Amino acid sequence: MSEGFTLWLTGLPGSGKSTLAGLAAEELRRRGYRVEILDGDEVRTHLSKDLGFSKADRDANIRRIGYVCKLLSRNGVIAITAAISPYREIRDEVRREHQRFVEVYVKCSLEKLFERDDKGLYAKALRGEIPFFTGVSDPYEEPLNPELLIESDREDAQSSLRRLLSRLEELGYIAKAPAPQ
Ligand code: ADX
Repeated sequence: MSEGFTLWLTGLPGSGKSTLAGLAAEELRRRGYRVEILDGDEVRTHLSKDLGFSKADRDANIRRIGYVCKLLSRNGVIAITAAISPYREIRDEVRREHQRFVEVYVKCSLEKLFERDDKGLYAKALRGEIPFFTGVSDPYEEPLNPELLIESDREDAQSSLRRLLSRLEELGYIAKAPAPQ
């Protein structure tokens, strides 16, 4: 059994965490690894259905996700999260619970996020229709020392994926892919 680890993607809403999580999961499965994704939106319809977006509720949400990731990763699974996880202290707390934890900051400028706004949530938040919306009216604390920084407004998803996989290879958490013939 290969050893598992947790790949923790953090960043503002709409920054590209879920897209990158999906691409990484697909490629890692193709390479023979067992992978689970814990996506913020999905977790909130199951595991965290009772929680809202106060600091206490977000912290509880992240602790639950972190706990599931710990169980999965110590059983040989690569657990990938795509949740905003806005508070540094809780991310660091989850890290301390892990043997192998890779924090990836998926960074994107607010300007770009307002422009993209796939779900129309930034427009609503700016009109004051969603209180405590991360990036607009609620804090996001950037990671200080992430294992990897992805600037999703400067690189496309495929090159982010390539950089992510090389970082995992460099950390020794996945085997090096054979060079293309
Ligand atoms: S977290 O802060 O607890 O990590 P999580 O990633 O689970 O957040 O959920 C974020 C998703 O909830 C966003 O993608 C968005 O669709 C939705 N959402 C609804 N209200 C808010 C809000 N006030 N702030 C941020 N996201 C919100």
